[in-house]
Amino acid sequence: MSDTPVDPSKRTWLIASGCAGVVAAPFVATPFVSSFLPSERAKAAGAAVVVDISGIAPGEKVTVEWRGKPVWIMKRTPEQLASLAKVEGELADPNSQRTAYPTPEYAQNQHRSIKPEVFVAVGICSHLGCSPSDRFQTGPQPSLPDNWSGGFLCPCHGSTFDIAGRVFRNKPAPDNLEVPPHMYLSDTRVVIGEDKKA
Ligand code: FES
Repeated sequence: MSDTPVDPSKRTWLIASGCAGVVAAPFVATPFVSSFLPSERAKAAGAAVVVDISGIAPGEKVTVEWRGKPVWIMKRTPEQLASLAKVEGELADPNSQRTAYPTPEYAQNQHRSIKPEVFVAVGICSHLGCSPSDRFQTGPQPSLPDNWSGGFLCPCHGSTFDIAGRVFRNKPAPDNLEVPPHMYLSDTRVVIGEDKKA
């Protein structure tokens, strides 16, 4: 555990081993994700990724790769959305005003997203780059407070995030999870890596 301030320029994205499996799994399990992926060469160049989200059920999360990073797309349940107001007093930056990972304007709201139920975020901890784990189950459990409302736990140094990727206070992670630029092409197709300002 360390409260030492982190120099963002020295952060290393530790996604090579931990996240590779996370990224790869949905490509196999959910073909709808892979069908819109750009070529390997285009991905390396940072191409935007179009994802069909129609197959994601409420409470489910898939991971796609964008610019070598794992990007989560999650459909939140009404209960998960209701938890956002409850935890607000325990968060370090509930309104996403910190600028190390600036939150796009369209996600500077309580749910940190364009559509309240659909959460899009880069699954990399803002502390030292581990990939946080899903902890959607509520209530007492190991490594989490007894009043846990569901969210994400970074296994490396114990930072916790709510179901909108907002970091809890007094944790090593200094910032909320990054929301990448994104926009909807239709009700069921979202493009990661581009938004209306691009
Ligand atoms: S990398 Fe340290 S808490 Fe996430």
